[in-house]
Amino acid sequence: MSRVAIVTGGTRGIGRAICEALHARGYKVAGNYAGNDEAAAKFTAETGIAAYKWDVADYDACQAGVDKVVADLGPVDIIVNNAGITRDGTLMRMSKENWQKVIDTNLGSCFNMAHAVFPSMREREFGRIVNIGSINGQAGQYGQVNYAAAKSGIHGFTKALAQEGARYNITVNAIAPGYIDTDMVAAVPANVLEKIVAKVPVGRLGHADEIARGVMFLVADDATFVTGSTLSINGGQHMY
Ligand code: CAA
Repeated sequence: MSRVAIVTGGTRGIGRAICEALHARGYKVAGNYAGNDEAAAKFTAETGIAAYKWDVADYDACQAGVDKVVADLGPVDIIVNNAGITRDGTLMRMSKENWQKVIDTNLGSCFNMAHAVFPSMREREFGRIVNIGSINGQAGQYGQVNYAAAKSGIHGFTKALAQEGARYNITVNAIAPGYIDTDMVAAVPANVLEKIVAKVPVGRLGHADEIARGVMFLVADDATFVTGSTLSINGGQHMY
Protein backbone atom coordinates (compact mmCIF):
# COMPACT_ATOMS: atom_id res chain seq x y z
CA MET A 1 0.00 0.00 0.00
CA SER A 2 1.46 3.36 -0.90
CA ARG A 3 0.75 6.27 1.41
CA VAL A 4 -0.80 9.47 0.13
CA ALA A 5 0.96 12.75 0.86
CA ILE A 6 0.09 16.40 0.31
CA VAL A 7 2.91 18.93 0.30
CA THR A 8 1.76 22.55 0.43
CA GLY A 9 3.86 24.97 -1.56
CA GLY A 10 5.05 21.81 -3.25
CA THR A 11 5.97 22.95 -6.74
CA ARG A 12 9.05 25.05 -5.98
CA GLY A 13 11.97 25.26 -3.55
CA ILE A 14 11.91 23.13 -0.43
CA GLY A 15 8.40 21.85 -1.19
CA ARG A 16 9.42 20.57 -4.58
CA ALA A 17 12.40 18.71 -3.11
CA ILE A 18 10.06 17.12 -0.55
CA CYS A 19 7.59 16.07 -3.29
CA GLU A 20 10.38 14.54 -5.34
CA ALA A 21 11.85 12.65 -2.38
CA LEU A 22 8.43 11.22 -1.46
CA HIS A 23 7.71 10.30 -5.08
CA ALA A 24 11.07 8.54 -5.40
CA ARG A 25 10.17 6.42 -2.37
CA GLY A 26 6.84 5.32 -3.84
CA TYR A 27 4.45 7.65 -2.01
CA LYS A 28 1.47 9.02 -3.94
CA VAL A 29 2.10 12.75 -3.91
CA ALA A 30 0.00 15.87 -4.47
CA GLY A 31 1.96 19.10 -4.77
CA ASN A 32 -0.18 22.07 -3.77
CA TYR A 33 0.53 25.60 -5.00
CA ALA A 34 -1.22 28.96 -4.78
CA GLY A 35 -0.54 31.02 -7.87
CA ASN A 36 2.45 30.31 -10.09
CA ASP A 37 0.86 28.20 -12.84
CA GLU A 38 3.98 28.25 -14.98
CA ALA A 39 6.17 26.80 -12.22
CA ALA A 40 3.49 24.23 -11.43
CA ALA A 41 3.27 23.08 -15.06
CA LYS A 42 7.07 22.80 -15.19
CA PHE A 43 7.05 20.84 -11.93
CA THR A 44 4.51 18.32 -13.24
CA ALA A 45 6.24 18.00 -16.60
CA GLU A 46 9.62 17.36 -14.99
CA THR A 47 8.56 15.13 -12.10
CA GLY A 48 5.32 13.45 -13.17
CA ILE A 49 3.75 14.63 -9.89
CA ALA A 50 0.28 16.21 -10.04
CA ALA A 51 -0.06 19.83 -8.92
CA TYR A 52 -3.20 21.10 -7.17
CA LYS A 53 -3.99 24.81 -6.97
CA TRP A 54 -5.53 26.35 -3.89
CA ASP A 55 -4.69 29.06 -1.39
CA VAL A 56 -3.73 27.48 1.94
CA ALA A 57 -4.70 30.68 3.77
CA ASP A 58 -8.31 30.02 2.73
CA TYR A 59 -10.06 27.55 5.05
CA ASP A 60 -12.75 26.47 2.60
CA ALA A 61 -10.25 26.10 -0.22
CA CYS A 62 -8.21 23.70 1.95
CA GLN A 63 -11.27 21.55 2.63
CA ALA A 64 -12.12 21.46 -1.07
CA GLY A 65 -8.48 20.86 -2.11
CA VAL A 66 -8.12 17.94 0.28
CA ASP A 67 -11.43 16.47 -0.97
CA LYS A 68 -10.11 16.62 -4.52
CA VAL A 69 -6.84 14.88 -3.59
CA VAL A 70 -8.78 12.19 -1.69
CA ALA A 71 -10.98 11.61 -4.75
CA ASP A 72 -7.91 11.31 -7.00
CA LEU A 73 -5.39 9.50 -4.82
CA GLY A 74 -7.21 8.17 -1.73
CA PRO A 75 -7.30 9.17 1.96
CA VAL A 76 -4.47 11.44 3.03
CA ASP A 77 -1.85 9.86 5.31
CA ILE A 78 0.74 12.62 5.32
CA ILE A 79 0.68 16.37 5.13
CA VAL A 80 3.71 18.57 4.94
CA ASN A 81 2.76 22.16 5.74
CA ASN A 82 5.51 23.84 3.83
CA ALA A 83 3.82 26.78 2.06
CA GLY A 84 5.20 30.08 3.24
CA ILE A 85 5.83 33.65 2.18
CA THR A 86 7.90 36.58 3.39
CA ARG A 87 6.95 40.24 3.54
CA ASP A 88 10.05 41.53 5.31
CA GLY A 89 10.36 44.97 6.80
CA THR A 90 10.99 46.54 10.15
CA LEU A 91 7.95 46.91 12.43
CA MET A 92 7.90 50.64 11.82
CA ARG A 93 7.46 50.06 8.09
CA MET A 94 5.30 46.95 8.15
CA SER A 95 1.70 47.35 7.06
CA LYS A 96 -1.15 45.58 8.82
CA GLU A 97 -1.78 43.83 5.53
CA ASN A 98 1.76 42.39 5.39
CA TRP A 99 1.48 41.30 9.01
CA GLN A 100 -1.83 39.50 8.40
CA LYS A 101 -0.89 37.93 5.08
CA VAL A 102 2.16 36.24 6.53
CA ILE A 103 0.31 35.05 9.64
CA ASP A 104 -2.58 33.67 7.56
CA THR A 105 -0.42 32.01 4.92
CA ASN A 106 2.34 30.61 7.11
CA LEU A 107 0.46 29.77 10.32
CA GLY A 108 -3.28 29.83 9.52
CA SER A 109 -2.55 27.29 6.78
CA CYS A 110 -1.36 24.73 9.33
CA PHE A 111 -4.72 24.91 11.10
CA ASN A 112 -6.65 24.84 7.82
CA MET A 113 -4.83 21.79 6.50
CA ALA A 114 -4.76 19.88 9.77
CA HIS A 115 -8.49 20.50 10.23
CA ALA A 116 -9.15 19.04 6.80
CA VAL A 117 -7.23 15.79 7.34
CA PHE A 118 -7.28 15.10 11.09
CA PRO A 119 -10.72 13.40 11.35
CA SER A 120 -9.82 10.85 8.67
CA MET A 121 -6.36 10.27 10.16
CA ARG A 122 -7.97 9.60 13.54
CA GLU A 123 -10.44 7.17 12.05
CA ARG A 124 -7.71 5.28 10.22
CA GLU A 125 -5.31 5.53 13.16
CA PHE A 126 -2.43 6.75 11.06
CA GLY A 127 -1.12 10.19 10.30
CA ARG A 128 2.12 12.04 9.77
CA ILE A 129 2.03 15.83 9.91
CA VAL A 130 5.23 17.75 9.34
CA ASN A 131 5.20 21.52 9.70
CA ILE A 132 8.02 23.53 8.20
CA GLY A 133 9.04 26.17 10.72
CA SER A 134 12.21 28.22 10.56
CA ILE A 135 15.38 29.17 12.34
CA ASN A 136 13.84 32.63 12.40
CA GLY A 137 10.89 31.31 14.39
CA GLN A 138 13.36 29.97 16.95
CA ALA A 139 15.82 32.85 17.10
CA GLY A 140 13.94 35.83 15.65
CA GLN A 141 15.25 37.94 12.80
CA TYR A 142 15.56 41.68 12.28
CA GLY A 143 12.87 42.80 9.84
CA GLN A 144 10.64 39.73 10.28
CA VAL A 145 8.22 40.22 13.17
CA ASN A 146 5.44 38.76 10.99
CA TYR A 147 7.42 35.77 9.72
CA ALA A 148 9.12 35.03 13.05
CA ALA A 149 5.78 35.17 14.88
CA ALA A 150 4.13 32.85 12.36
CA LYS A 151 7.02 30.37 12.38
CA SER A 152 7.29 30.47 16.15
CA GLY A 153 3.54 29.79 16.23
CA ILE A 154 4.12 26.74 14.07
CA HIS A 155 6.42 25.30 16.70
CA GLY A 156 3.77 25.76 19.41
CA PHE A 157 1.04 24.39 17.13
CA THR A 158 3.18 21.32 16.52
CA LYS A 159 3.71 20.57 20.20
CA ALA A 160 0.02 20.99 21.04
CA LEU A 161 -1.34 18.94 18.14
CA ALA A 162 1.24 16.21 18.80
CA GLN A 163 -0.42 15.64 22.16
CA GLU A 164 -3.85 15.36 20.55
CA GLY A 165 -2.69 12.97 17.83
CA ALA A 166 -0.52 10.68 19.94
CA ARG A 167 -3.16 8.13 20.93
CA TYR A 168 -4.24 7.73 17.31
CA ASN A 169 -0.77 7.08 15.87
CA ILE A 170 -0.74 10.55 14.34
CA THR A 171 2.66 12.12 14.80
CA VAL A 172 3.14 15.87 14.47
CA ASN A 173 6.63 17.25 14.10
CA ALA A 174 8.36 20.36 12.83
CA ILE A 175 11.50 21.04 10.89
CA ALA A 176 13.26 24.35 11.39
CA PRO A 177 15.33 25.04 8.28
CA GLY A 178 18.09 27.58 8.30
CA TYR A 179 18.91 29.61 5.18
CA ILE A 180 18.34 27.36 2.15
CA ASP A 181 19.24 28.26 -1.45
CA THR A 182 15.68 28.91 -2.63
CA ASP A 183 14.01 31.85 -4.38
CA MET A 184 12.86 33.12 -0.96
CA VAL A 185 16.41 33.44 0.33
CA ALA A 186 17.66 34.77 -3.01
CA ALA A 187 15.31 37.73 -2.42
CA VAL A 188 17.29 38.80 0.67
CA PRO A 189 19.57 41.73 -0.25
CA ALA A 190 23.03 40.36 -1.13
CA ASN A 191 24.87 42.41 1.49
CA VAL A 192 22.49 41.19 4.22
CA LEU A 193 22.70 37.57 3.08
CA GLU A 194 26.48 37.67 3.02
CA LYS A 195 26.53 38.61 6.70
CA ILE A 196 24.05 35.84 7.53
CA VAL A 197 26.05 33.14 5.71
CA ALA A 198 29.20 34.31 7.51
CA LYS A 199 27.50 33.16 10.73
CA VAL A 200 26.76 29.63 9.49
CA PRO A 201 29.40 27.25 10.87
CA VAL A 202 29.04 24.93 7.87
CA GLY A 203 29.87 27.98 5.76
CA ARG A 204 27.17 27.87 3.10
CA LEU A 205 23.45 27.96 2.41
CA GLY A 206 21.60 24.68 2.79
CA HIS A 207 20.07 22.78 -0.10
CA ALA A 208 16.38 21.93 -0.38
CA ASP A 209 17.06 18.20 -0.52
CA GLU A 210 18.78 18.48 2.87
CA ILE A 211 15.40 19.49 4.31
CA ALA A 212 13.59 16.76 2.36
CA ARG A 213 15.91 14.23 3.98
CA GLY A 214 14.59 15.22 7.41
CA VAL A 215 11.00 15.00 6.23
CA MET A 216 11.57 11.44 4.97
CA PHE A 217 12.70 10.43 8.44
CA LEU A 218 9.66 11.97 10.14
CA VAL A 219 6.98 10.59 7.80
CA ALA A 220 8.18 6.99 7.83
CA ASP A 221 5.68 4.39 9.02
CA ASP A 222 8.07 3.26 11.74
CA ALA A 223 8.75 6.79 13.09
CA THR A 224 6.02 6.13 15.63
CA PHE A 225 7.81 7.41 18.75
CA VAL A 226 8.97 10.73 17.29
CA THR A 227 6.30 13.32 17.92
CA GLY A 228 6.18 16.93 19.06
CA SER A 229 9.81 17.39 18.11
CA THR A 230 11.55 20.07 16.11
CA LEU A 231 14.42 19.02 13.88
CA SER A 232 16.77 21.94 13.21
CA ILE A 233 18.54 21.72 9.85
CA ASN A 234 20.57 24.88 9.66
CA GLY A 235 24.29 24.16 9.25
CA GLY A 236 24.84 24.88 12.93
CA GLN A 237 23.68 28.50 12.71
CA HIS A 238 21.40 28.18 15.72
CA MET A 239 21.65 25.31 18.20
CA TYR A 240 18.37 25.00 19.99
N1 CAA B 1 20.50 43.97 13.80
C1 CAA B 1 20.57 45.27 14.16
N2 CAA B 1 20.46 46.28 13.30
C2 CAA B 1 20.27 45.97 12.01
C3 CAA B 1 20.20 44.65 11.56
C4 CAA B 1 20.32 43.63 12.52
N3 CAA B 1 20.27 42.32 12.17
N4 CAA B 1 20.01 44.66 10.24
C5 CAA B 1 19.97 45.96 9.87
N5 CAA B 1 20.13 46.74 10.93
C6 CAA B 1 20.16 48.19 10.97
C7 CAA B 1 21.05 48.71 9.84
O1 CAA B 1 22.40 48.71 10.26
C8 CAA B 1 20.48 50.08 9.62
O2 CAA B 1 20.95 50.95 10.61
P1 CAA B 1 21.42 52.43 10.22
O3 CAA B 1 20.21 53.07 9.59
O4 CAA B 1 21.82 53.00 11.53
O5 CAA B 1 22.55 52.22 9.25
C9 CAA B 1 18.99 49.92 9.87
O6 CAA B 1 18.87 48.71 10.66
C10 CAA B 1 18.20 49.72 8.59
O7 CAA B 1 18.74 48.60 7.87
P2 CAA B 1 18.40 48.34 6.37
O8 CAA B 1 19.02 49.37 5.54
O9 CAA B 1 18.68 46.91 6.03
O10 CAA B 1 16.81 48.59 6.40
P3 CAA B 1 15.78 48.40 5.28
O11 CAA B 1 14.50 48.98 5.81
O12 CAA B 1 16.29 48.82 3.96
O13 CAA B 1 15.64 46.82 5.19
C11 CAA B 1 15.07 44.67 5.87
C12 CAA B 1 15.23 46.09 6.30
C13 CAA B 1 14.03 44.57 4.73
C14 CAA B 1 14.54 43.91 7.04
C15 CAA B 1 16.40 44.11 5.37
O14 CAA B 1 17.36 44.31 6.34
C16 CAA B 1 16.31 42.63 5.07
O15 CAA B 1 15.81 42.21 4.04
N6 CAA B 1 16.82 41.80 5.98
C17 CAA B 1 16.80 40.35 5.80
C18 CAA B 1 15.74 39.74 6.60
C19 CAA B 1 15.87 38.25 6.45
O16 CAA B 1 16.83 37.64 6.89
N7 CAA B 1 14.88 37.62 5.86
C20 CAA B 1 14.95 36.21 5.68
C21 CAA B 1 14.20 35.87 4.44
S1 CAA B 1 14.45 34.16 4.04
C22 CAA B 1 13.55 33.36 5.17
O17 CAA B 1 12.87 33.91 5.97
C23 CAA B 1 13.67 31.86 5.13
C24 CAA B 1 13.98 31.32 6.46
O18 CAA B 1 13.12 30.75 7.08
C25 CAA B 1 15.33 31.43 6.97
